[in-house]
Amino acid sequence: MCGIVGIVGRKPVSERLVEGLERLEYRGYDSAGIATIFEGELHRRRTEGKLVNLKARLKKEPLSGNVGIAHTRWATHGAPTECNAHPHFADGVAVVHNGIIENFSELKDGLAEVGAKFTTDTDTEVIAHLLTKFRRDGMGRLEAMHAMLKCVKGAFALAILFEDDPATIMVARNGPPLVIGHGDGEMFLGSDAIALAPFTNDITYLNDGDWAVLGETGVQVFDTEGKVVTRPRQISIATADLIGKGDHRHFMEKEIYEQPEAIARALAYYINANDNDLTTISTDIGFATVESLAISACGTAYLAGLIGKYWFERYARLMVEIDVASEFRYREIPLSPRSAALFISQSGETADTLASLRYCKAQGLRIGAVVNTRESTIAREADAIFPILAGPEIGVASTKAFTCQLAVLAALAIGAGKARGTITNDEEQGLVKSLVALPRLMRQVLNDIKPKIEHLSRELSNSRDVIYLGRGTSFPLAMEGALKLKEVSYIHAEGYAAGELKHGPIALIDQNMPVIVVAPHDRFFDKTASNIQEVAARGGRIILITDEMGASISKLPTMHTIVLPNVDEIIAPMIFSLPLQLLAYQTAVVMGRDVDQPRNLAKSVTVE
Ligand code: G6P
Repeated sequence: MCGIVGIVGRKPVSERLVEGLERLEYRGYDSAGIATIFEGELHRRRTEGKLVNLKARLKKEPLSGNVGIAHTRWATHGAPTECNAHPHFADGVAVVHNGIIENFSELKDGLAEVGAKFTTDTDTEVIAHLLTKFRRDGMGRLEAMHAMLKCVKGAFALAILFEDDPATIMVARNGPPLVIGHGDGEMFLGSDAIALAPFTNDITYLNDGDWAVLGETGVQVFDTEGKVVTRPRQISIATADLIGKGDHRHFMEKEIYEQPEAIARALAYYINANDNDLTTISTDIGFATVESLAISACGTAYLAGLIGKYWFERYARLMVEIDVASEFRYREIPLSPRSAALFISQSGETADTLASLRYCKAQGLRIGAVVNTRESTIAREADAIFPILAGPEIGVASTKAFTCQLAVLAALAIGAGKARGTITNDEEQGLVKSLVALPRLMRQVLNDIKPKIEHLSRELSNSRDVIYLGRGTSFPLAMEGALKLKEVSYIHAEGYAAGELKHGPIALIDQNMPVIVVAPHDRFFDKTASNIQEVAARGGRIILITDEMGASISKLPTMHTIVLPNVDEIIAPMIFSLPLQLLAYQTAVVMGRDVDQPRNLAKSVTVE
């Protein structure tokens, strides 16, 4: 979603503001802009589309000034036009905003009655006009800021310039994150630490409800009541190196190939490789005694949770209630305080997932957060943090975060089984041994399947629709494969439980319909094989992803077969993710898509 950057110091800021915005491109956006104060006046440049357009504009019409704010906008209210792009101005005030002002309509009507002239379709513009009004009413800058924050409802991260104070930037946070960066004679702000990585790693996270004034030598933070508060400084691990593309064409490709290393890092946190058992996870959420488990998440993280459900039910004999967070938060699910809840989120900032967490907390459940960003809001509000240690994920389509989430969920399910006495020590050791083999097997698969995938992706790129099928944990994986393909290639794709084929999707099968079947040779293989026959009998083009055993014993009517090594059932979802991710990636590349920033998508969805 929208990205915010700000710098106040003694050197020109405009180029560095754009550099910061480039670091936030991964979040998804459709227009951009920056504003500075120069010689006592506010100036701005805004453009539709990608940052190249803004850079071109700045080349023709440079922007001077040692203080400035910048923004990439993911349109919510109003089309992604130059006029609706941030910063928004109203008489001496400039505002950039990430989030939604829910009561903007009534505020707008009230402000229009007292003469405010609105020029955009955005919700954000009311903030600029409110501040102007309060200043006209005689308030000072701080007072106006505090009064404005009392009027607006919704989710926001804000950065504001007052023309009559060229030495400061005002910021506020209610929902979407904001990070303050401490420099040498300069202060920075950004939507995340990645934006600030080229400038500083000395950072302070604002809490929800905080607002602050940044000057070149420091920051003063206030809480909702306007009381001065102190927030800790910490060193961010997001370095400029970590977030480069290396030798890869796209972040998505880099992140796919980083998986063996990322999984090894994640597993090392949860596993004693020497003894093939789990480390004592000190941040337990009472798995031994809980009645049941609730899981909620969005997008790819939700599908990881759905695979986790199979594991918790099978190995820990724990009933799992799972739903996408946008539904979970409103369903009024009767949950027992003797249950625990897990929230899975790469960013740790997804608005619906956070709201679901707060719902469960209010019901008295113990909360675990499976997150990539340990400083995130979801992590901070949880009782226990289960880090996935994937490292920064920049590609909008999640890859390495997904498989690291799976590895962590598998470890937690085994840990829960051990704590509940539903698996024996030998079973624990066997399962852990399988997990330990993952990085090596993933490396092998990534090396082996590339040529086959390249060939297949050319064929797939001509399709209008694709169906993915699977049973057991391969069912959520089929949905993840379909999600990956539609996200980056824009080909319509759906994942179904293979057993559901006859209840509807089979009507879609004809000779133009590729059907990708995810079928390791597991307990379900024979049943899935029957479904393959049913598709073939109707002319469907089958692409089978199986293992050596599945490929050797079956004479199935497939068009293509991708053969993976035989692996234990618990790690099959991570191994079988690889061809699905690569197929989506290569198909999008063949089609010339913007792989890392697919249209309309945002990496971190901080509004409902
Ligand atoms: C967006 C992203 C997905 C991600 C989902 C949940 O839709 O494009 O890749 O899976 O949000 O994000 P989270 O940060 O909570 O995992």
